[in-house]
Amino acid sequence: MHIAVLMGGWSAEREVSLSSGAGIAAALEANGHRVTRIDMDRDVAARLAEAKPDLVFNALHGTPGEDGSVQGLMDLMGLTYTHSGLATSVIAIDKVLTKQALVPHGIPMPGGRVVKSADIHQADPLQRPYVLKPVNEGSSVGIAIVTADGNYGNPIGRDVAGPWQDFDELLAEPYVRGRELTTAVLGDRALGVTELRPKSGFYDYDAKYTDGMTEHLFPAPVPDEIAEACKALALEAHRLLGCKGCSRADFRWDDERGVDGLFLLEVNTQPGMTPLSLVPEQARHTGMTYEELVQAIVEEALR
Ligand code: DAL
Ligand code: MG
Repeated sequence: MHIAVLMGGWSAEREVSLSSGAGIAAALEANGHRVTRIDMDRDVAARLAEAKPDLVFNALHGTPGEDGSVQGLMDLMGLTYTHSGLATSVIAIDKVLTKQALVPHGIPMPGGRVVKSADIHQADPLQRPYVLKPVNEGSSVGIAIVTADGNYGNPIGRDVAGPWQDFDELLAEPYVRGRELTTAVLGDRALGVTELRPKSGFYDYDAKYTDGMTEHLFPAPVPDEIAEACKALALEAHRLLGCKGCSRADFRWDDERGVDGLFLLEVNTQPGMTPLSLVPEQARHTGMTYEELVQAIVEEALR
């Protein structure tokens, strides 16, 4: 099969996508497919039209590859592609729309409100500690945790130039103390639960993509009740949002509050496929090689 791998692009996660795309393209070739690598630029429609692939493997992260734009283009061109479609992508990339879609169905998510970046210099939008995050970025780009004794200029963790400088609006969410958990969904199956323990600070961009900066524990050392809840919630969120193929649900768990302390943060419709990424790692723990995972995502797209 001739497969075009779309990667790169111009989002803040360009480098992450190039890493995902390189791994995916090599795996597809190892699986016997003919591969055209496309580092997406504004000519993407012309390049896809010229390549005429049987399938597009979407390895993009962030805008516009994860927000419905590229999905809409491929729909118009009549191309078959991996992962979620237009409507799902529009909702899932947006952390506010995701809450509006999932909370009424009983999925527990932290509350929150959208604030003008300019206003957060005047007053705390929520009681501390709270998290400030861009509404539609990935990989923790632009996230700050404002702690009781921290101040805006000195939030803990990596401060990518200060989110209030780069974004007009931010989502402020109460900070959920405790533990970081994640669950991959492939087709109709939740693969398991991983706990992420960053060696310092929080699970930010550097902790995600620098080898050795975060301990990954699989299966997560949590009570069965919590692991089962993560898997059920990940599957339910995947279904409610209409995700296709593969997604990854990220959670915080306040371990002093039992199952009532478990909160879904978001669903990633274009989860990372880099050497340190969590979906390939969970797949490996369930006995699936990276090449087999990539082939499974191809087959999900063709169903
Ligand atoms: N946004 C990154 C790629 C992830 O969810 O893995
Ligand atoms: Mg994300």
